[in-house]
Amino acid sequence: MLRIPLLEDLPPVAGKRVLVRVDFNVPIETSSDGTRVVSDDFRIRAALPTINWLLERGAEVSVCTHLGRPGGKPDPKFDVSPIREVFSTLAPKVSILENLRFNPGEEANDPAFLEELIAGFDMYVNDAFGVCHRNHASVVGPPTRLPSAAGRLVEKEVEVLGHLITEPKSPFVVILGGAKVADKLGLIRSLVAHADKVLLGGGMACTFMAAAGIGVGASLKDIAHEDDCRRILSEYPGKIVLPVDSAVLLGNGSVEVVKGPIPMTGKILDIGPETCEVFDQAIQDAETIFWNGPMGMFEDDRFSSGTYSVARSLAQCEGFTVVGGGDSVAALDSAGLSGNIGFLSTGGGAALQLLETGDLPGLVALRQSMMRSLEV
Ligand code: 3PG
Repeated sequence: MLRIPLLEDLPPVAGKRVLVRVDFNVPIETSSDGTRVVSDDFRIRAALPTINWLLERGAEVSVCTHLGRPGGKPDPKFDVSPIREVFSTLAPKVSILENLRFNPGEEANDPAFLEELIAGFDMYVNDAFGVCHRNHASVVGPPTRLPSAAGRLVEKEVEVLGHLITEPKSPFVVILGGAKVADKLGLIRSLVAHADKVLLGGGMACTFMAAAGIGVGASLKDIAHEDDCRRILSEYPGKIVLPVDSAVLLGNGSVEVVKGPIPMTGKILDIGPETCEVFDQAIQDAETIFWNGPMGMFEDDRFSSGTYSVARSLAQCEGFTVVGGGDSVAALDSAGLSGNIGFLSTGGGAALQLLETGDLPGLVALRQSMMRSLEV
């Protein structure tokens, strides 16, 4: 993976005004009296190493973030006041700008908005890995104008995820789930080339099962992508591991574990116990493991055991474990197992795009800023 400029590559920061793009897109809860509070401050705390590095060296720091998707106009439901409340106790000397997405110029990557954003700043740091896949003004714009670097979070994400697609320690096992196969085909194609095994679960596995000639009944199946799945199966024989049994919701409302073809009215909603064992064995034998996406409809207790089984397998295994994506991280959190994972990515979409394409617009922009500074 190509190098990106790091904090150490910035010119001296003492006395300089530094704009740090963070990803404080945190969950907010509204209480009965209408007060909005941050319900999980993990992303806010995660930015502190970068902010403290800058402050310790005498920089004057401001941070900017988006919160939710307000659609380019101010909306009190999305203002950053609950974040400011938490952040002011963690970093009292640092100011926080209002939600970037209140301005339509952010998502449109409008040059006029960029000028407004960087006015008065001497340098820029991108520590918002979760939006590095977005061509937004605050992500790709500042490096075209200011000396720029990646913050510690972005540095670590790129190091760990980059390693998976350059030199993963073998055996490298990938576990992918989630509903839509179309969203994951590019990722599967990229990872299957580096992995020893790719274990598939969730709704997306149904299309692969159908492509392999296994009847999936009334399960979610993406007919338009069945041929793509068939091609992947035949290009990488033995690498793609499909469920051998499934928890199925039958037409009469009952739930059964089915091995082999699924009855016509049956819907696969989780992997079965035998599949959990097969997946566990592969995970325990691996040196490097990457997991993204639930194995079934895990928000329903009847279909959560596959996802929790994978979570436990990862927590117990001795290899280096990396987990990306909101649902997988949520499953680990609710099982109290997050602390047993080697690396939890803060970026769902960004992590998957990096693994699929090998780069991200936000990283490209930082690299271009480094090239420019070498030219002058
Ligand atoms: C995230 O929460 O995944 C990031 O903050 C990106 O948010 P977005 O999908 O609204 O760009």
